[in-house]
Amino acid sequence: MSKYKIAILAGDGIGPEIMQEGIKVLKVIEQRNEVEFDLIEAPFGASAYFSHGSSFPEETQRLVDLADAVVKGPIGLSHQESKKIPVDQQPERGALLPLRKRLNTYANFRPVYLPKSLAHFSPLKAEVIGEGIDIIMVRELVGGLYFGAKEMGVNDQGKRYVREMLEYDEDQIAAILHEGFKLAQSRKKVLHNIHKSNVLKSSVLWNEVLEEIAGQYSDVTVIHTLVDAAATALCLNPGQFDVMVMENMFGDILSDQGGGILGSLGLMPSACLGENGKAYYEPSHGSAPDIAGQQIANPYSMIGSMAMMLEYSFNMVDEARNVWDAMQSVFDAGYSTADLSKPGSGIKLLKTADFGDKVVQHLMANN
Ligand code: NAD
Ligand code: IPM
Ligand code: MN
Repeated sequence: MSKYKIAILAGDGIGPEIMQEGIKVLKVIEQRNEVEFDLIEAPFGASAYFSHGSSFPEETQRLVDLADAVVKGPIGLSHQESKKIPVDQQPERGALLPLRKRLNTYANFRPVYLPKSLAHFSPLKAEVIGEGIDIIMVRELVGGLYFGAKEMGVNDQGKRYVREMLEYDEDQIAAILHEGFKLAQSRKKVLHNIHKSNVLKSSVLWNEVLEEIAGQYSDVTVIHTLVDAAATALCLNPGQFDVMVMENMFGDILSDQGGGILGSLGLMPSACLGENGKAYYEPSHGSAPDIAGQQIANPYSMIGSMAMMLEYSFNMVDEARNVWDAMQSVFDAGYSTADLSKPGSGIKLLKTADFGDKVVQHLMANN
């Protein structure tokens, strides 16, 4: 019997609602395998700030250090509400980025996946979707503008100014590029390198490092694409992409665009991977304050993040596949949550918990 300690950080907004559905799925996996999941909930995010005085309380810090894996719901408040928390303690700066740094999860895998049979979910025309969308964006997660030196003040002319540095060293760049190459090797052997070397020096170094290590992956074809052009290409011909590798900020923006071309951010799970098995799993999207508390959020992103945990942290590859298949079966049966079942679409509407229940039914049927 394998025993795993899993830190459960439900987060803010829709976080607790979608986390509940992910937990339902984990319970099924636990029942039918030689595995025990010790699920330990801990405060994290804006809710933790109000209840514990910190968006990343010490007890949660200790828990994530010893856990075998961490699953995290989205954190954060609406623009207006977030003003109630001092800038440096807001959960994005005070909890999420410190979590990434603490676990050194430098590699963020964000699948952007829509089979041809679900092309109607996408705002793109069926002929643009073609045979379907099947991309994994590999985003560097602990460097770049997010973690560079920052300065805010008043300059000699009395003007307020700000300076934020985009910093990388060659080891950080090589680490994420190796992830991109290895993933490409396991898939179609094509790596799209997304950069902005026509302007940014960081991209010049990035591409230099890429040239240096590319020889270790001679079976992989590298295609260089400037990030702005990549944004357009994702809309016009997403089928050309398989593995895309990029720095932190580019990955933040393009992965949300990925959710856009699928039809909803609710279809965006992710895995955040570090060294020596350190990892945490979270949806790519935010806390969706506009729909929180209504049981209308799509839990696919959270359940999919758990499937990624089963695969990457516990090597339960078959059960991970079963979870994806079960979610697919729910869609194939003509159901979805409100984000994807617009009036007139003919798609049968499910509440958040009903989606989770249906996934569980399909999962149990497939044993
Ligand atoms: P968002 O991703 O929360 O929402 C954007 C849109 O997508 C909204 O209309 C929302 O309803 C919809 N949406 C997102 N997830 C959905 C789901 N599972 N099902 C159905 N619809 C879904 O982005 P935002 O509104 O810009 O940000 C809200 C807060 O979330 C901010 O405080 C932001 O900082 C935070 N945030 C946190 C994370 C994280 O924890 N990793 C990621 C992104 C944003
Ligand atoms: C994401 C989010 C975060 C990011 C924010 C909340 C700090 O947008 O995970 O994509 O920008 O990385
Ligand atoms: Mn983002």
